[in-house]
Amino acid sequence: MRIQIVNGPNLNLLGIREPEIYGKKGFEQYLHQLRDMFPNVRIDYFQSNVEGELINMIHEVGFDRDGIVLNAGAYTHYSLALMDAIKSVNTPVVEVHISNVHQREEFRRHSVISPACKGVICGFGLDSYRLAIEALLNLK
Ligand code: DQA
Repeated sequence: MRIQIVNGPNLNLLGIREPEIYGKKGFEQYLHQLRDMFPNVRIDYFQSNVEGELINMIHEVGFDRDGIVLNAGAYTHYSLALMDAIKSVNTPVVEVHISNVHQREEFRRHSVISPACKGVICGFGLDSYRLAIEALLNLK
């Protein structure tokens, strides 16, 4: 099993950015724990603040990975290009959010990428990523 995590804008600042919403742990630290939780899964990680780089990554991995876990950050709410990229590949994509976007500002309640994704997990903090991997494993 090989799974790709793709994190979008501002998620490089996890641990520093709005810790009351996103927690105090950096993603690299969490990634070590995640890899320990799934010793039989190869988990690759990519983060970018640039929309086109996220699209390029989805194209690159979207035909040979067993799944993509995507936290598109704010692009979730308006990037039709990202939605098209997800539709263009055949690897299942699980949309994740650390926060419960439905408890927050109105604009965060709408995701343009959800219709292109296999499913959505949000609101469980960093544990949302583990849940997404479990869901992808269960598809097999
Ligand atoms: C987020 C929620 C988005 O609305 C926000 O723009 C983010 C992070 C989350 O993980 O909760 O950058 O995707």
